[in-house]
Amino acid sequence: EADMDFELRPPIVTVMGHVDHGKTSLLDRIRKASVAEGEAGGITQHIGAYRVETPRGTIAFLDTPGHEAFTAMRARGASLTDIVVLVVAADDGVMPQTREAISHAQAAKVPIIVAVNKIDKPGSDPDKIKRDLANLGLQPEEWGGQTMFVHVSAKTGQNIDQLLESVILQAELLELKAYPKRRASATVIEALLDRGRGPVARVMIQDGTLRTGDIIIAGSVWGKVRAMTDELGRTVSTAGPATPVEVLGLNEVPSAGDPVHAVKDAKTAEEIAETRRKKASKSLIPQDSRVSLETLTS
Ligand code: GTP
Ligand code: NA
Ligand code: MG
Repeated sequence: EADMDFELRPPIVTVMGHVDHGKTSLLDRIRKASVAEGEAGGITQHIGAYRVETPRGTIAFLDTPGHEAFTAMRARGASLTDIVVLVVAADDGVMPQTREAISHAQAAKVPIIVAVNKIDKPGSDPDKIKRDLANLGLQPEEWGGQTMFVHVSAKTGQNIDQLLESVILQAELLELKAYPKRRASATVIEALLDRGRGPVARVMIQDGTLRTGDIIIAGSVWGKVRAMTDELGRTVSTAGPATPVEVLGLNEVPSAGDPVHAVKDAKTAEEIAETRRKKASKSLIPQDSRVSLETLTS
């Protein structure tokens, strides 16, 4: 196989932090969009995925909720990412989900860039945040440590360019490789059953290229990709590394976090799905009854 045909791929960057510290607003500012205003109660309740072209290169962003109820989503976000941008509001400081985000990133061994947000606000104290985060192991570069800190305002747009440059710089250090000629591998960000369209899976492509017509397996479900749309709802026929895409054609709804792989044919997909399904249902049966079931059926 064409193993030499790698290219450097864009980074997948997860934005994390305490509730209302300005994650969605920052991404809105970067994308020149306005998602935050339309959210129910001003609270993000899902993982948003966006691909952004910056003057220095492409970045794929994942937005995560900061509300304490969404720990699993944050853990998922951290596990499929290359870099975490930790957003800390300068007027509020280090809070419980700030610390939680740091532990997810550290568990996933992902570098953190700190965006100290809302520096336009009177009473903001970015130096206190630096001290508090240094105590949690995020020593700022300017104090001889490894962590980049950028002071930003989603409201005024101050230093947003610098934040994007820091992300690109960090990504260059990571030398993220992808093999676009390979079959796609991806992760389900979220999935749902749509009345008209059937199972819908929003996935982040991590390597390879996904094409309409490909046979894919997602966890223990499979199907043939019938159609794909990008984050703006435009139909696409291919999706390369570090691209979020919505996929139609799975036979059932997969789970968020499920790994996705394009495979060579439907028979392979069906077999793998069946094996995984059996494994999953077995592990749901309590140990004792499993023994008796096996005795009965042997
Ligand atoms: P969750 O996703 O619910 O955790 O919140 P979030 O981190 O995405 O925060 P969101 O973008 O919803 O912003 C929360 C509030 O802070 C909103 O009212 C924003 O307008 C405000 N806000 C965000 N960034 C800034 C900023 O830089 N300056 C000021 N003054 N307000 C900001
Ligand atoms: Na919010
Ligand atoms: Mg949000």
